[in-house]
Amino acid sequence: MALVNIILMLLTFTFVHHQIATTEARLDIGVCYGMIGDNLPSPAAVVQLYQRYGIGKVRLFDPNPDALAALRGSGREVTLGTKNQDLQNIGSSVAAAKAWFDANVQPYVSGVNITYLSAGNEVVPGDLGRYVLPAMQNLQSVVNSYGYSGIKITTVVPTSTLGTSYPPSQATFSDAARADMVGIIKFLSSNGWPLMINIYPYFAYASDPVNVRLDYSQFTATGPVVQDGPLSYSNLHDAVVDAFYWAMEKEGVTNVDLVISESGWPSAGNGNFTTPALAQTYNQNLVKRYQANTGTPKHPDRSMGGFLFALFNENQKPAGVEQNFGLFYPNTSPVYPIYFN
Ligand SMILES: *[C@@H]1O[C@H](CO)[C@@H](O)[C@H](O)[C@H]1NC(C)=O
Ligand SMILES: *[C@@H]1O[C@H](CO)[C@@H](O)[C@H](O)[C@H]1NC(C)=O
Repeated sequence: MALVNIILMLLTFTFVHHQIATTEARLDIGVCYGMIGDNLPSPAAVVQLYQRYGIGKVRLFDPNPDALAALRGSGREVTLGTKNQDLQNIGSSVAAAKAWFDANVQPYVSGVNITYLSAGNEVVPGDLGRYVLPAMQNLQSVVNSYGYSGIKITTVVPTSTLGTSYPPSQATFSDAARADMVGIIKFLSSNGWPLMINIYPYFAYASDPVNVRLDYSQFTATGPVVQDGPLSYSNLHDAVVDAFYWAMEKEGVTNVDLVISESGWPSAGNGNFTTPALAQTYNQNLVKRYQANTGTPKHPDRSMGGFLFALFNENQKPAGVEQNFGLFYPNTSPVYPIYFN
């Protein structure tokens, strides 16, 4: 009897283990691995979490050596950012960019599948914005000199780069962002690389719940909510994506795709706008949206994938909603159930 139980246990363990090990990575789904916490699991445990849930893409905000080492041979695709404060140096010369790359990226290139290298995060609009394009150009030279054709250079921008964004067809880049954005999108256009954008319907809803509908913010509206000429929108996420397409088109750029580098909904920190149930609804619908891999009303033919923000609740971020965007607690248990497959 005991032996049978042990054999059954072993079989169960093997089966579960096998299931975990072979969960297919969803390359349409990414999750940002933010590290602003003093109670987070080891990078090795974090990589296992990505594997257990079949999350195919990892976004790192800076080239953390331990995280990159843990990602070696993991089968994940990695989007890697430079620190914003390194942009001026990287943009100063190709030699400086090469020194940065050799110290931070080169040691990992053979074992880590780096698909995007992002010159900073949410730098435009701002004082460091003028360093983004030179940094991208210098990184391109370095990557080309090594023959790393799989690494695309890009940058991550917030919706505050848009002046007007509603209705989408009226969208333009803001005066503060335009000078930097035009150079960036022309560079991306000539290389066939996408722009990365961070979009948060949560903040639009929370700041104006009277005019911004919850169902429109959460992908739960059952029909069109916003009509923009011939195009109708049932969710704010896609309306913002199209606003970026329109803003680029007004600068004569029509061939740059968009990747969503961050989107999410906090589970706490702002009363009844931030419950686990609301966060679950938004994030699960976002996973479905990325898995559907369909385009937007303006560009139905263009695929769209992206990253949820973020993997963990991060206790060293500003108090309030900022600490509560995680899908998981630092002990790796889920804040609410979410399915990636
Ligand atoms: C890295 O990711 C790219 C993009 O999906 C893919 O084409 C390539 O096969 C991957 N390389 C490895 C070694 O997994
Ligand atoms: C939050 O509470 C306010 C006031 O009771 C209510 O009007 C609003 O609909 C609630 N919002 C959500 C998302 O439950």
